[in-house]
Amino acid sequence: MTYTNFKGRHFINTQDWTREELEQLLELAIDMKRQPFRKSLANKSLILLFFNPSLRTRTSFQLGMYQLGGTTVVLNMGLEVWNLEVEEGVVMDGKAAEHIKEAARVFSRYGDMIGVRKFPDLVDWKKEKQDAVIQAFVKWGSVPIINMESHLYHPCQAMADMLTIQEHLGGFKGRKFLLTWAYHPKPLPTSVPNSALLAASKMGMDVVLAHPKGYDLDEDILKAVRENAALNQSSFQIVYTMEEGFQNADIVYAKSWGAPAFYGNWDEEAKLRSELKDWRVTQKRMQLTRNGKFMHCLPVRRNVVVDDEVIDGPNSIVYDEAENRLHVQKAILEAILS
Ligand code: CP
Repeated sequence: MTYTNFKGRHFINTQDWTREELEQLLELAIDMKRQPFRKSLANKSLILLFFNPSLRTRTSFQLGMYQLGGTTVVLNMGLEVWNLEVEEGVVMDGKAAEHIKEAARVFSRYGDMIGVRKFPDLVDWKKEKQDAVIQAFVKWGSVPIINMESHLYHPCQAMADMLTIQEHLGGFKGRKFLLTWAYHPKPLPTSVPNSALLAASKMGMDVVLAHPKGYDLDEDILKAVRENAALNQSSFQIVYTMEEGFQNADIVYAKSWGAPAFYGNWDEEAKLRSELKDWRVTQKRMQLTRNGKFMHCLPVRRNVVVDDEVIDGPNSIVYDEAENRLHVQKAILEAILS
């Protein structure tokens, strides 16, 4: 395969890349899986900034860079590093000791690439939708920036999801991808569902989104999903029961998120949420699918989001999905840096 030159590109959102470019990254990921150790990133360095916890992202990026011959520096922001100010033009007489402008510029002098994980604080959607932290690194840094999950997107997860689907279904066209909301005791961000919908529709799957009334995703994301579906002559549908969504699904992708009308007022959302405990992936519901595969980005709450018999069953592909984080991220790193 002849690859496009991706050198120097940021990886923030799959929407910034064409379908053909994403297909090339998946091809490269398959090659990585066949031949995991290479020296393509010898003498290169990746700085990983974690404003939030991680199991998979941290481990897979660190080991991935090692397997390509490069090195990583991992920093837990706010714990081991100065608190950063993100707003521009403010008087910095509060908690933050350093501005993100300096941090982005200094990290860019040290490393060849920067990975950033920063979840939303779940306080003010209008503000958090600006994705200020990752965008500040794009703006002030001078090396490629990799999104390791931001307020809006989790593109590396979505690419691992697509690789897993390609491996298990053999392709995307004509396959039904169900993204279903599931109960969780706490409101969660929308980065994973946003990126899963964007990637599945971009690759040409028939996408169904199932959620309870009141749990709509952001209209700009839905608009982009509709546009992807139109370009691919595939479909996008929203339904309000799990039973309708599960019908003939090839993929059941479960995730929870908060109700937008209560954004920042989560105590008020608690009552609505507590009535939705039945939104759980069960074997009975899986039987409505077309021998559907179960997917989840992990971490997952067993017997809350999904029953043990589903996640431990033969149609669960969650560990392939987690493993594929390693291979797709190595593909992204090599494509952007070498
Ligand atoms: N799926 C995912 O991003 O896992 P971590 O939060 O453990 O990195």
